Amino acid sequence: MREFKTILVTGGAGFIGSNFIRHVFRKSGYKGKAVNLDKLTYAGNLLSLTDIEKEYGGTRYFFEHVDICDKAGVMKTLKDTGADCIVHFAAESHVDRSITGPGEFIQTNLIGTFNLLEAAREFWKDRKDVLFHHISTDEVYGSLGDIGYFFEDTAYDPRSPYSASKAGSDHLVMAYHHTYGLPVTLSNCSNNYGPYHFPEKLIPLMILNCFEGKPLPVYGDGMNVRDWLYVEDHASAIWKIITDGKIGDKYNVGGENERPNLEVVNLICEIAAGENGKPKDEYKSLITYVKDRPGHDRRYAINCDKLKKELGWKQSVTFEDGLRQTVRWYLNNPEWIESVRSGEYRKWIEKNYAARD
Ligand code: NAD
Ligand code: TYD
Repeated sequence: MREFKTILVTGGAGFIGSNFIRHVFRKSGYKGKAVNLDKLTYAGNLLSLTDIEKEYGGTRYFFEHVDICDKAGVMKTLKDTGADCIVHFAAESHVDRSITGPGEFIQTNLIGTFNLLEAAREFWKDRKDVLFHHISTDEVYGSLGDIGYFFEDTAYDPRSPYSASKAGSDHLVMAYHHTYGLPVTLSNCSNNYGPYHFPEKLIPLMILNCFEGKPLPVYGDGMNVRDWLYVEDHASAIWKIITDGKIGDKYNVGGENERPNLEVVNLICEIAAGENGKPKDEYKSLITYVKDRPGHDRRYAINCDKLKKELGWKQSVTFEDGLRQTVRWYLNNPEWIESVRSGEYRKWIEKNYAARD
């Protein structure tokens, strides 16, 4: 098992990154430090880590307000912290935004990853006791028909500006391993859901719209299929990969839980109604079919046997339980919701971190 002293987490203020940092401190048994390097775009929210900041801030947890496209800033952080592991989440992550504005995706996901790789190569030189772990998506594999699965050796066939930018970053990571011997691992995961999810993505958007009696916008015929992975299970998979995964190798991570979008939305309606003490079908009338997303991938389905067999990972929750926990989390965290919606959290950041910038 590999051990690290200081893990640099890029994009740690985002949905999966913040859940990963919490997993590292609370569940993994890790005794070292973690540095959260984040630009704090609209999707980054330090309120997602207030408990960690309170308990470990300044001793084992540190925040650095840095853009991964700023190589000097990244180099300075590496030198100041002496990080021996980088877990790279930072990205523009929303497909719809990549359709209306692809430029930021190229900048952060491609150029930013390139910068980070260059900085790691320069800082670590030829060290072999270090690791660069890259988080990617199953969307790089393209779209499936009614049958079949994505395997680790499935050829890349990205179809949105988002997935194309992620595919490019995956290739760069592997190229740095093959060309320069940089120790890397890579994971491609399916759609995550759970607490601290920015409410532009399907599941949190539908939950909040149910609570507020707003329309539930289903794209196209609602029969596009996604595989849903609970974010805490993703965090435990990443931990397994960074500590025990084979260097230079890649692993698929999935929930093994394929559902058409309409089924997901109906289930959210039922769970949200139950948790809110309403009749079971109360929210279903809010379902509204809207114009389809251009180039909307039809089906993603992931085979993650390699991770299960080689590293002994498995999912811990059923979709129904994970969704119930998620709905409860949104019900119990109105302040977080208000903060991401109102931009209040930006003021909080300015107040709390201005002095450090
Ligand atoms: P997110 O959008 O919630 O968070 C992204 C984080 O990255 C934010 O904190 C943001 O401030 C930060 N960031 C963006 N640009 C940056 C930059 N230039 N420099 C530094 N920080 C920057 O994303 P997420 O859903 O947590 O996704 C994390 C990673 O997982 C991404 O690489 C994404 O491609 C991948 N992924 C996500 C999913 C999913 O279902 N959410 C599925 C597969 C893969
Ligand atoms: P999303 O959460 O954006 O993730 P991704 O595009 O990365 O899979 O969308 C999940 C699925 O839900 C996708 O098929 C698009 C669909 N969708 C809707 O039907 N309505 C919505 O409002 C959103 C955001 C997504």
